[in-house]
Amino acid sequence: MKVLILPDAQAAVARAADIIATTIAKKPDAVLGLATGGTMLPLYEVLAQRHREEGLSFAQTTSFNLDEYIGLTPDHPCSYHHYMRDAFFRHIDVDPSRTHLPKGDAADPRAASDAYEALIAEAGGIDLQLLGIGQNGHIGFNEPTASLGSRTRIKTLTESTRRANQKYFASFEETPRYAITTGVATILDSRKCLLLATGSAKAHAVAKMIEGPLAAICPASALQLHARATIVLDQEAAAALAFTDYYETVHPQGQASAFD
Ligand code: F6R
Repeated sequence: MKVLILPDAQAAVARAADIIATTIAKKPDAVLGLATGGTMLPLYEVLAQRHREEGLSFAQTTSFNLDEYIGLTPDHPCSYHHYMRDAFFRHIDVDPSRTHLPKGDAADPRAASDAYEALIAEAGGIDLQLLGIGQNGHIGFNEPTASLGSRTRIKTLTESTRRANQKYFASFEETPRYAITTGVATILDSRKCLLLATGSAKAHAVAKMIEGPLAAICPASALQLHARATIVLDQEAAAALAFTDYYETVHPQGQASAFD
């Protein structure tokens, strides 16, 4: 795992944007795995700005989002389809027909999950998977105790995840209970993973992910098995790590190491 610790959230977001831009520069038709949530909003803003001002082009990329709530149509204002269109896709030059999210309103969500997993494989797999982390250590909506061998499927959301996401809905009761999410094994199949975490609320989960035991109780700890996982943190999200001196020796100020 590469652990990059940046001075603040803005710098962490810029560093994550650099990694995405480098991936696209090397492979313009890269398959990107995308995430939603509050952490990603400033990142999508920076990427859209680089598209406008620096010519960063997504025209040849394909994307697969991690997850979608079950029961919400793509035009529901709280759906991740809506989030992605509003926060990112409408600001860049991506071909909408090459953007994919699980179908939360499918009549048969199990079949839709299997079809989504197959579609990722058909696209040749994911080159760079962008991830956030839940306060409970989830990645995608792979909640604590999710199988580390899991594939795209239906997951029941924990109460803590529903409480964290309640702010986007009218009430806790209206916050969805189920989602389709790509699995931990689906995520681990990606050729590279990039996890961005900012803010003190993530510090505990980040420490368990990087320095805790590999365990389903913290699904993000599965990234310890990935050969090319980069974790980009601000100081607050890094605050509970024990080996900070080492991470800063290898990647001073979160920048490239001598051997990158
Ligand atoms: C969303 C997703 C989730 C979020 C996580 C953090 O697509 O995959 O795992 O990344 O819940 O969400 P925020 O950034 O809102 O704290």
